[in-house]
Amino acid sequence: MGSAHSQSTPNMLSSLAAVTLLLCCGQLAAGDRYHPEVKAKLRADRPTPAQAERTAAFWYNEARSAIEGQLGHRLGGGGGKARNVVLFMGDGMSVPTLAAARTLLGQRNGRTGEEAQLSFESFPSLGLTKTYCVNAQTADSACTATAYLCGVKTNSGTIGVTAAVPRRDCAASLDKSTNVESIAAWALADGRDAGIVTTTRITHASPAGAFAKVANRHWESDSDVRGDSQDPNVCPDIAYQMINSYPGNEFKVLFGGGRREFLPTDVVDEEGTRGRRTDGRNLINEWQNDKRSRNVSYQYVWNRNQLISANVSLPDYMLGLFESSHMQYNMEADLVTEPTLEELTEVAIRSLSRNEKGFFLFVEGGRIDHAHHDNLVELALDETIEFSKAIGRATELLSEEDSLIVVTSDHAHVMSFNGYTTRGGDVLGVSDSRDRHGRPYMTLSYTNGPGFRPHVNGMRVDVTAEQGFGELDWRSHVDVPLASETHGADDVAVFARGPHHALFTGMFEQSGVPHRMAYAACIGPGLHACSAAARPALAASFALLFAMLLLLR
Ligand SMILES: *[C@@H]1O[C@H](CO)[C@@H](O)[C@H](O)[C@H]1NC(C)=O
Ligand SMILES: *[C@@H]1O[C@H](CO)[C@@H](O)[C@H](O)[C@H]1NC(C)=O
Ligand SMILES: [Zn+2]
Repeated sequence: MGSAHSQSTPNMLSSLAAVTLLLCCGQLAAGDRYHPEVKAKLRADRPTPAQAERTAAFWYNEARSAIEGQLGHRLGGGGGKARNVVLFMGDGMSVPTLAAARTLLGQRNGRTGEEAQLSFESFPSLGLTKTYCVNAQTADSACTATAYLCGVKTNSGTIGVTAAVPRRDCAASLDKSTNVESIAAWALADGRDAGIVTTTRITHASPAGAFAKVANRHWESDSDVRGDSQDPNVCPDIAYQMINSYPGNEFKVLFGGGRREFLPTDVVDEEGTRGRRTDGRNLINEWQNDKRSRNVSYQYVWNRNQLISANVSLPDYMLGLFESSHMQYNMEADLVTEPTLEELTEVAIRSLSRNEKGFFLFVEGGRIDHAHHDNLVELALDETIEFSKAIGRATELLSEEDSLIVVTSDHAHVMSFNGYTTRGGDVLGVSDSRDRHGRPYMTLSYTNGPGFRPHVNGMRVDVTAEQGFGELDWRSHVDVPLASETHGADDVAVFARGPHHALFTGMFEQSGVPHRMAYAACIGPGLHACSAAARPALAASFALLFAMLLLLR
């Protein structure tokens, strides 16, 4: 019996394999078993690559102009001092997200797409950062904000404090030796201005990294602090800190969502939603009172029209809260009331540029992350494209000679860009390949998240037959069912343009990002490009010259 079994097994396997091959590819594919040769014939229903791509000259010329562009950048923006620093952070903008977003951008313009470029992909320097936190292999947006804004790795869920503070440990965070300042505060200390722009609640983890010191990122209003059985009078919430504490109270520009964290429960905001504060404070009024008492000009705005008018005659200080919670996804937003990230970025830069000494601005494309968590891949890519537009505007407004622009992400996600599709295939569509049962799968799918479909008879379901397939709220498929898709632990990219951009090449710790920006801007507690001590090579050559002069005597 045992031998009969072992004889039938190979036969069964080979007939199964034959069926699979028939279903999957129609004909026996050539190539090795790792790389079955899929039909690579371009399809007539897709944009086709430019004829020129078939020649060597096309690729030689492409390389030549890329090298010339790179050399031009190095001559123009390599040294000097960064008067202005802008840090753009795409929340959850993993490396595969960049590839997929640029392809979608190109396809929206009627091209094959793969060859397209996001605005910052032509920046002269590119590196990778390691995103792990002190107690976490896979980072969250709080410990990473502390890294790329304050220059210190810390515990998950904590902001503006070192890893000596466990999450939710209010008492530990009161010890001032655990508190760390952000590069926004370093800029203010040098007489420059600072501002933050985000599409999330402005009290959310990433923007909070610029001003808050808090043992739990979820303490956005006083009721959240109480909800964790802590006393907001001892450990104030993030919204309170932004309005009443240094450095948030000195920021010239504060744009984002999150009105509810600033208003008491008995106040209904401009768009009909109640506040969440249980301490009775109206922090929007407090912000206005503070600026009035300083005899400076100021404006609170909550919609796009008000932002556009404020841009015509800029006040000294601006607070813009455009939603009760997060700002809406660009593809779903009411464009009458809601400004785009590009518009917010432009007004912020115009406002901050009035300081001759310069400024630090943090701009977050915050909802790439939220869309990924929901497996809503088109929204994630569209938010990435919006983020790219904002950076494109900034490069037009700021000179490479005196302004350092850095573009990065806080952590990755588990979206993957699957094979095998021919050139120009819809990046939001199905792969040209099929699974071993002949079922289609999406070019962009996720390892985990809410988009799980139970298998039927041991087979994946055909997702393309689903009602609402491909609509904005249609989730791509996943392997592991989870309520929310997870962050990824892989590295994220850093792009840089402007003074000392080359510092951002290679592989480095995420906490090194603000130190590099501070070096180029000559601010903060670390090394500065402007001081001779920071230039060992120069110092050494002076010493050599001096020694030679002594010898000649
Ligand atoms: C307030 O500022 C205005 C204009 O900048 C100035 O004319 C006025 O004297 C200031 N008032 C006080 C009390 O400083
Ligand atoms: C802001 O004002 C400048 C200068 O007038 C103008 O060029 C720009 O388009 C305005 N931007 C917005 C978003 O209103
Ligand atoms: Zn997230």
